[in-house]
Amino acid sequence: MVLLSIVGARPQFVKAAAVHRALAMKGSKHSILHTGQHYDDAMSRVFFEELGIPRPAIDLGVGSGSHGRQTARMTEGIEAALLEHKPDALILYGDTNSTLAGAIAAAKLHIPVAHVEAGLRSFNKAMPEEGNRIICDHCSTWLFCPTETAMRNLAREGIGTHDGTATADHPKAVLTGDVMMDISLHYAAAALERSTILEQTGVRANGFLLATVHRDFNTDDEVRLKAIFSALELCGQAHGLPIVVPVHPRTRASLERCGLRPNDKVLRLIPPVGYPDTIMRERSARPILTDSGGVQKEAYFFRKPCVVLRPETEWVELVDAGQARLADADNATILASAEEFLRNGTPVRDGLYGDGHAADRIADELS
Ligand code: UD1
Ligand code: UDP
Repeated sequence: MVLLSIVGARPQFVKAAAVHRALAMKGSKHSILHTGQHYDDAMSRVFFEELGIPRPAIDLGVGSGSHGRQTARMTEGIEAALLEHKPDALILYGDTNSTLAGAIAAAKLHIPVAHVEAGLRSFNKAMPEEGNRIICDHCSTWLFCPTETAMRNLAREGIGTHDGTATADHPKAVLTGDVMMDISLHYAAAALERSTILEQTGVRANGFLLATVHRDFNTDDEVRLKAIFSALELCGQAHGLPIVVPVHPRTRASLERCGLRPNDKVLRLIPPVGYPDTIMRERSARPILTDSGGVQKEAYFFRKPCVVLRPETEWVELVDAGQARLADADNATILASAEEFLRNGTPVRDGLYGDGHAADRIADELS
């Protein structure tokens, strides 16, 4: 099979790196289409350089825009690329607008779709990602699920597992585990050896907290953004620990728009960083506070407790296991959750996201 992965946003580069490694080991023909959804060097180029992802064979350079315009421009570009390159199947990742555009273009051209990270649901349709995931799942032939919960979500929507040939009309859900676990394990050892990022940020292992914030409902709502940053500041002050915050460009713009200038003695706001450095920070942090999907899971991979800056999460097993707490943008809950984790640490429950061989299972299925 000739396979084409569609990527565009930061977490998709990370997931595609895991899948590409597994496909390359099997000798599969696999190339990359980059929609250009993320385009700053720190949001895109560094991942290709650091994670051994092949240079995109097709680069659409779509850039930012409203949901409709961005998705439409991507869909048009992907359709043209599919007509020219005629892949046997398309691999789509997660739930971004790049995922949605790939699903629409492939469905119209009857090109089978493999969805990596299928079956996730927040049950909150106000999130742009929720619609993207549902549509992509229902355009897919192979649905590669990271968790049992995802398998159950799909079963409720009429998509199950079977031994026959998967087709668009008879799709197949497969429990693979999470490709982000595979890649984080792969890079963790190397990060530990090579990274000097802690020294560069002036913090020491286990002497800081880590936070990321980028969800539209947090960045584009001034009340929520202020509540979160004030909670971070109070938390750092109360425990005498700096909080390192790699800032997504969308968040940087919102902080400026709201005139928010966090106390730089407590909050170390830094530009987005590459993946091995992020892994290194996650490994070395005390609690991690985040609204990111990927960072929630990485906290678990490195046995760090996680305060989730959202009202709900798709990664419900983390909350069930006591490793993550939902704090939304509520000042008091954020503070109380971080304090509880600082005092008591996190319970350990292994195996929530597979055994580190999710990408191998995907490669087996697609070979
Ligand atoms: C997107 C995904 C989200 C994912 C996140 C990962 C959708 C709907 N959302 O959100 O699911 O969690 O990526 O980070 O697809 N910008 C830059 N430089 C860049 C990229 C973005 O300055 O390289 C700024 C632009 O002002 C842009 C804004 O960030 O308008 C938002 O970017 P966009 O890709 O639309 O959404 P994300 O918030 O990154
Ligand atoms: N990440 C990174 N540098 C950063 C912030 C995040 O490499 O400055 C990585 C992080 O380790 C994870 C992925 O980007 O693998 C998550 O991306 P993001 O939080 O933007 O999106 P989400 O997972 O919420 O869709």
